[in-house]
Amino acid sequence: MNFTEVYYLNTNRKKYIMSTIQEEIAKRKTFGIISHPDAGKTTLTEKFLLYGGAIQTAGAVKSNKIKKSATSDFMEIERQRGISVATSVMSFEYDGNLVNLLDTPGHKDFAEDTYRTLTAVDSVILVVDCVKGVEEQTQKLMEVCRMRSTPVIVFINKMDREGKDPFDLLDEIEEKLKIKVHPLSWPINMGSLFKGVYNIHKKSLNLFRAGSQRVEEEVVSISDINDAILEKQVGEQDARRLRDDVELIEGVYGPLDKNTYLEGTIAPVFFGSAINNFGVKELLESFLELAPTPRSRPTDHGEIQPTDKNFSGFIFKIHANLDPKHRDRIAFLRVCSGKFERNKFFHQVRTNKNMRFSSPFSFLASAKNIVDEAFPGDVIGLYDTGNFKIGDTLTEGKDFNFQGIPSFSPELFKELVNTDPMKTKQLEKGIQQLTDEGVAQLFTHEMGNKKIVGVVGDLQFEVIQYRLQHEYKASCMFQPISLYKACWITSDDKAKLTEFCRVKYQYIYKDKDENIVFLAESAWVLKVAQDNFPEIEFHFTSEFKTKQKV
Ligand code: G4P
Repeated sequence: MNFTEVYYLNTNRKKYIMSTIQEEIAKRKTFGIISHPDAGKTTLTEKFLLYGGAIQTAGAVKSNKIKKSATSDFMEIERQRGISVATSVMSFEYDGNLVNLLDTPGHKDFAEDTYRTLTAVDSVILVVDCVKGVEEQTQKLMEVCRMRSTPVIVFINKMDREGKDPFDLLDEIEEKLKIKVHPLSWPINMGSLFKGVYNIHKKSLNLFRAGSQRVEEEVVSISDINDAILEKQVGEQDARRLRDDVELIEGVYGPLDKNTYLEGTIAPVFFGSAINNFGVKELLESFLELAPTPRSRPTDHGEIQPTDKNFSGFIFKIHANLDPKHRDRIAFLRVCSGKFERNKFFHQVRTNKNMRFSSPFSFLASAKNIVDEAFPGDVIGLYDTGNFKIGDTLTEGKDFNFQGIPSFSPELFKELVNTDPMKTKQLEKGIQQLTDEGVAQLFTHEMGNKKIVGVVGDLQFEVIQYRLQHEYKASCMFQPISLYKACWITSDDKAKLTEFCRVKYQYIYKDKDENIVFLAESAWVLKVAQDNFPEIEFHFTSEFKTKQKV
């Protein structure tokens, strides 16, 4: 074989590899379903999985919400943790697509976990209950989507119930979620009079036939909404009203510009009833048609395209293994570019270590087992013995760090007090590992080692105390402490930063990555500090460009 032959062989091989990666990327959709608890996220997830053949029966997906009554039932917490490992990522194939559905905890006390999961998706479906409208938790989740310009599709659920007027719901979504909407389907009545939806996008009529044991969806194609078939199907009055509504909608919204959806500025809206499996197939198919394939991601060295030939990915979630005899954890890696290969060395940027993985596993329902390779958009589980922290980047070739996995200021703070000095080591290790997992944020005072734990919801304190005791044999209690906010502080003026840290000495802590944090006692204290020290920048998430240490 001469040199030219080798050259051609190599370039062809390279071309072959590239086209395979591109084909794999084109097949993938990685998304999350978000909602306020009880809006129907679990029900919708289950129906999607039924369509994808990932489950055979209804009721197979357990809701992983922690009911209020269960807050002090620790077995319930353990059970929920078991469920949430199993359902963290659900992958299935549908119509030539490979769909990765990332689960997000509904309970507000675990909102931080949801925010992090949203960093690993390319789009979301937001479920709204037509009776309750937009609820508080949905507003917060939408803020996170807006921060990242994540494309959003809205599914207005429970149309079999007497809910709010659809036009009012659209207004409420625009106003409370601060996103423009574009209805792609429209309901014909609701509650007991619900007759179905007209798909504006595909110009078809999906009729709701309740009453039989299984509600069947009957799809009637109508090329023209003025066709007399409409009267026959839904009656004169509803046909007239539907025509008026659709005329108004088409006049106001016009055709959907897909780019506005992909940029995250306009949310297409669908109506249906998840429990009755109505409007779900239509939602799934429209989602697959509209939703983006794996997108590029920001790093501290610019955007990384999924088609980049070198592998890269980041850890967005760490889950403790349930077996207390083993300290193993599962780290969830989102592949962002290139190809992940089993047993190949990749570089962990934070620790500057090369690592390889002999048993990475996928979450594909049909074959939940070891994978030899994974492509952009995929999420794989890596067994971890404590090497990973949330936000860690793995690369091949050039070093860089993925951005956009910030910690937000916690809402509740308590001081962690060791109640068994003989078990100090265990407590230190336990709290360190739990914060690596992202269960809570830990702020340590430089002198005296005082530890403040910050969380989003009270339930997390109970989880931490329980897990420290059961997994690490450490005993602790939480002392109430009055704090308002954690602010990460930086300044170009090193002398001012040092002075600020000296003046506010009592309230200066370090986070788990050694960043300086100012724990402000009240909004007023924070305002005074900001006024008195204009040279200091106060950040309300842990992600900021310049990290400065004193
Ligand atoms: P979540 O994950 O968002 O918290 O909600 P989930 O799917 O668990 O649904 C919350 C409740 O709403 C469930 O009732 C579910 O059956 C019901 N639901 C979901 N979709 C629809 C719908 O289209 N129409 C109506 N009428 N109800 C719907 P539950 O009584 O809390 O639980 P279960 O006993 O039914 O499991």
